[in-house]
Amino acid sequence: MTMSDQPTPSAILDGVDLRALAASLSTPFYAYSAGAIRARVQGLQRALDGLDARLCFAVKANSNIGVLHLMAGLGVGADIVSAGELWRARQAGIAASDIVFSGVGKSADEIAAALDAGIWKFNLESADELALLQDIAYGRGVVASAAVRVNPDVDARTHAKISTGRAENKFGVDIDEARGWFANAGRSPNVRLDGLHAHIGSQILELAPFEQAIARVAAFWRELREAGHRIDSIDLGGGLGVCYRAGHDRPIDPDDYVAVLRRELHDFDGRIVLEPGRYLVAEAGVLVTRVLRVKHGRGRDFLVLDAAMNDLQRPALYDAWHDIHVVQDASAPLQCYDVVGPVCETGDTFARDRVLPRCAAGDLVLIGGAGAYGASMSSNYNSRPLLAEVLLDAGRYAVVRRRQSFAQMIANEQLPTAWSEA
Ligand code: LLP
Repeated sequence: MTMSDQPTPSAILDGVDLRALAASLSTPFYAYSAGAIRARVQGLQRALDGLDARLCFAVKANSNIGVLHLMAGLGVGADIVSAGELWRARQAGIAASDIVFSGVGKSADEIAAALDAGIWKFNLESADELALLQDIAYGRGVVASAAVRVNPDVDARTHAKISTGRAENKFGVDIDEARGWFANAGRSPNVRLDGLHAHIGSQILELAPFEQAIARVAAFWRELREAGHRIDSIDLGGGLGVCYRAGHDRPIDPDDYVAVLRRELHDFDGRIVLEPGRYLVAEAGVLVTRVLRVKHGRGRDFLVLDAAMNDLQRPALYDAWHDIHVVQDASAPLQCYDVVGPVCETGDTFARDRVLPRCAAGDLVLIGGAGAYGASMSSNYNSRPLLAEVLLDAGRYAVVRRRQSFAQMIANEQLPTAWSEA
């Protein structure tokens, strides 16, 4: 179902011919296979069978309400990091009681909004945040349920910009500090500290860092239990990696990952929470784009697409590899290209020296692995309107975000006609 599963480039995704779709919607746009998302969710749910476990989809990976609605229908909750994500999750039909709130910089307004909505759990990342939650919950006469995000000091061996579990990272508190939080829990009567949380990074392709982190969290839970603290939930974050490069990336089998949970937490009687983002959606999505022109540079040929770094930032930001499929006759001769977008920066490069079937203007190009951190990280840079998103499901499609119009793009801007005295 996902593009990388296909030995030869095909333009069929979830029963929909992307060539026909691209002829009716203008490119570029994102297309997501509902079938592929469902398969990932249900596969993970099956792996967790028999455990009291809950999936809370990391909304940041793909925040489209159509995708979130699909998650809600599959019994998946949400891991949010802002009031905006709370709003989206609620609009999409995710129950507040299935929402956890992570992030190092929750503002007072965001905490208040989440308390008022009645979310399940705050994943707290600093003593300051604990004090703020105590104050706001006290002011409302409620008791908030919260987990301490511990930083297990584990190297996730992934890209430095998406590694979060080392002591030097800004995330969580070390186990010593967390111990103090529990010892002093009585000082925050409006916060019920009944959970542990850890998230060590993203696009993790090795089991060992997860094993280390889970073992550290499990050991801390046992220590807390000995000391008489009741822990209702252990949230192990997200991070499961995916295949961006066919034949090269070898993702962890979810059964192996869950086997570690079963082993390390065999005597844990509370709820296990996972916050997968990328794993559930990345390979279900493609960025559908066209060749604007082939430009012959000095010693290299540039494939200039109508999609750019503002639409899919990962290659520019992390030097990330995404498989690129040209929808072409399999007999086309191969050629080496630098695949670039129209934005005025050299960094607007999707791939360098990529060997692809020879292309011409108008050819359709599919950039794989684009269902996570694609549309959700897109911007209006170079005044390019935000692109459309389409959900595909067994031969049908639904536009879940229309392409932004120029008028929408500048809707909140105004000419400085009304000046106020400051
Ligand atoms: N939970 C927490 C607390 C997180 O910070 C994240 C991701 C997740 C869960 C979901 O992680 P996942 O399962 O998707 O690996 N923009 C980057 C990825 C940033 C991830 C940030 N945190 C990229 O495009 O690679």
